Amino acid sequence: MSVNLRESWWIGDVEVPTRVVLAPMAGVSVQAFRRQGRRFGAGLVCSEMVSCAGIEHRNERTLGYLRVSSDEHPLAIQIFGSDPHAMAEAARMVEAAGADVVDMNFGCPVRKVTKTGAGACLVEDVALACAITEAVASAVSVPVTVKMRRGVENGSRACLELGPRLVEAGAAALTLHPRSAKQMYTGWADHSLTAELVSLVDVPVIASGDVTSRAKALGVLEATGAAAVMVGRGAQGNPWALAEIVGDAEAAQPSREEVAAELIHFVRETVRELGEHRANGFLKKFYGWYLGHGRFPKPFKQELVQLKTTDEVVTRLLAAAPGAAEILERLEADVPESEFVLEGMPISIYGGG
Ligand SMILES: Cc1cc2nc3c(=O)[nH]c(=O)nc-3n(C[C@H](O)[C@H](O)[C@H](O)COP(=O)(O)O)c2cc1C
Repeated sequence: MSVNLRESWWIGDVEVPTRVVLAPMAGVSVQAFRRQGRRFGAGLVCSEMVSCAGIEHRNERTLGYLRVSSDEHPLAIQIFGSDPHAMAEAARMVEAAGADVVDMNFGCPVRKVTKTGAGACLVEDVALACAITEAVASAVSVPVTVKMRRGVENGSRACLELGPRLVEAGAAALTLHPRSAKQMYTGWADHSLTAELVSLVDVPVIASGDVTSRAKALGVLEATGAAAVMVGRGAQGNPWALAEIVGDAEAAQPSREEVAAELIHFVRETVRELGEHRANGFLKKFYGWYLGHGRFPKPFKQELVQLKTTDEVVTRLLAAAPGAAEILERLEADVPESEFVLEGMPISIYGGG
């Protein structure tokens, strides 16, 4: 069987143009990251997890997550919480904000979240998980999806019991990251569970975990029958991985100039979105991600991290790769500026699923 990654598929009535989904990642999935993901071939992008309590209390920072740019669609906004009523309210606001899909986080392994009954522990609480899904699905008219882990304990198969029940409760698609919450990000995602889940439900399943290349994407899709793969860490500072996965072999090896231009564009977009102060801290991890892969010498990354302003970072990048200026000019002419300027948007807790 051969899978075409450029084929479109559907979540309810939302058409997703490719079989690659950009993963929700707390502290990473800002609007600049999502827009870039769409540009490089992701058929669907997702916000990081947004607290339904924060939405309920109209927390200004939380509401910052609900800003959607017109070139992100289709876009899922992910919410987390454990109270069906509050989740339904949050879903209404997410729909009003312009999300095409409301995704729910049943996968976050972080204690701060699980101790409130949200995130990964919902995989083991079938009654509450279904009550939340029913409440959310009946509150909105856009499709509602769930992203979950395999269960809490190592070796758990709880996701296989829960999956079909979530579909009965109204889930239009399921994403499985088949690691346990205990595992966090260690070991491997066991996609034999993804294959089992696919055989149990009649909605699309998205396979998340350890997909970093076209070969891995095809392997997972062929072995599981999933509708799409989700790419997370593999796309951090490496949008070219998305292009390679959807089938652009040349894109896998960008030149230094292309890398510098793309990073500068990302820096500028992020500063527009978060303001200089927040963006400056937020961006530091991205320098290593972009400049690694043997693209620039290691000490150069250290140098960038120590610079005081993002303007200095841009100047230094242009000095290291002068040819980037021309590429950047083309890039900025092609990609319209985001409509939103967001000051003070939060970087939430790390490691949400
Ligand atoms: C830094 C980081 C933040 C994450 N935040 C979220 C999140 O907010 N919501 C979620 O459902 N999953 C979150 N995840 C899990 C990813 O979406 C994905 O399922 C996981 O990283 C496995 O895929 P990968 O091997 O492609 O990275 C996060 C992962 C990382 C590394």
